[in-house]
Amino acid sequence: MSNRKPLMAGNWKMYKTAAETRAFVEAFRPMVVDAAHCDIAIFPPFVSVPAAVAETQGCDIGVGAQNLYWGKEGAVTGEITGHMLQAAGCKYVIIGHSERRQYFGETEADVLRKTQAAIEFGLTPVVCVGEKLEDREGGKTEAVLAAQFDGGLGPLTPEQFAKVVIAYEPVWAIGTGKTATPQMAADAHKFIRGKVAEKFGAAQAGATRILYGGSVKPDNVKTLMAEEDIDGALVGGASLDPKSFTAIVKY
Ligand code: PGA
Repeated sequence: MSNRKPLMAGNWKMYKTAAETRAFVEAFRPMVVDAAHCDIAIFPPFVSVPAAVAETQGCDIGVGAQNLYWGKEGAVTGEITGHMLQAAGCKYVIIGHSERRQYFGETEADVLRKTQAAIEFGLTPVVCVGEKLEDREGGKTEAVLAAQFDGGLGPLTPEQFAKVVIAYEPVWAIGTGKTATPQMAADAHKFIRGKVAEKFGAAQAGATRILYGGSVKPDNVKTLMAEEDIDGALVGGASLDPKSFTAIVKY
């Protein structure tokens, strides 16, 4: 057992209005009051963040956003900054999710700038990395993870990196019902932790939380969490229902 406190995070993607967010928290909050073994966070769409923040007042459920733009403010139509998220009550922000890399062309340079911006405004960045199916089949998983780490996280200062949570999400496992086997996930986590050790030292590698994401469900979370290097989960589909996310939180 490591002494890293698990983080169980619900990435709601493009689901839940403000009213649906309120209903979720109303049902979820009483079911997880006694879940002190882990940190809990929900990541609603931007417009539902204020509802989530209001409904989680006075409890330990953290709220995060799913993206941000770097800078404090400016003439950038349609974007939202870390400063605004912080002011709205967010504690976390997801950066470099594979859907953003795939559909919006986010690059390692974007991931780096966004991670730096998140830290500047006091947010905990949850930075996603992960290989596509063709990478895995072509034996390129480690090369892809290394490039994502080196480009998106490697240039941070040690002080900045200390604030980062990493999420390993194999793209072929997201929303597909295909979970990485605990062994596959553990190997990838070990590899990423090795990269952290190389760049930021053994003590930091021992402290950095690395979450697994990709079809985490109530019935597979326990075996994943039994792996020494898996420090929590980034959950999409199964985090939308209060009972199912509670079962995951209380693995
Ligand atoms: P999933 O999504 O649990 O629905 O596979 C995970 C994620 O994309 O963060």
